[in-house]
Amino acid sequence: MKDLKKEIQRSFRLEMIGTGLYSALAKQYGRQNPNLGERLQTFSDDERMHGRLFQKCSQNLYGNALGGEQLWHFVGKMAAWAMRPLPLEAKLKKLNIAEKHAVEQIEQALATGEDTSFHKAIRVILRDEKAHAAFYDEWRSSSPMQT
Ligand SMILES: [Fe+2]
Ligand SMILES: [Fe+2]
Repeated sequence: MKDLKKEIQRSFRLEMIGTGLYSALAKQYGRQNPNLGERLQTFSDDERMHGRLFQKCSQNLYGNALGGEQLWHFVGKMAAWAMRPLPLEAKLKKLNIAEKHAVEQIEQALATGEDTSFHKAIRVILRDEKAHAAFYDEWRSSSPMQT
């Protein structure tokens, strides 16, 4: 990987944005639909754990802890707020595209066969991102009438 340090920072940022975004959606929809709220909160917790893994990576490789967690968390919440006018289906579709993209990027990074602590982290993360990416179809098939 060309610039591992930058890649770790970028990944950390995206995970923290995801944490804020999913938790805001979990709050927004959890009242009317506790199952959906719970699922979205689980995704938020996954993304937080992923962010922590990238923080550990950075600490191990470069000796510096990545900061700005609260800021990126807030950016995620704002992203959820900006999506408010969209129907739930459109929000989940957007997230689905982002999650599929994450899966592709992780698979590409793993295909190089490198085995840094970054690669160890993304190997763990991949399983969760696949579950996040699968959620849209799952949700569609369980609530075909909902838009
Ligand atoms: Fe993640
Ligand atoms: Fe994800």
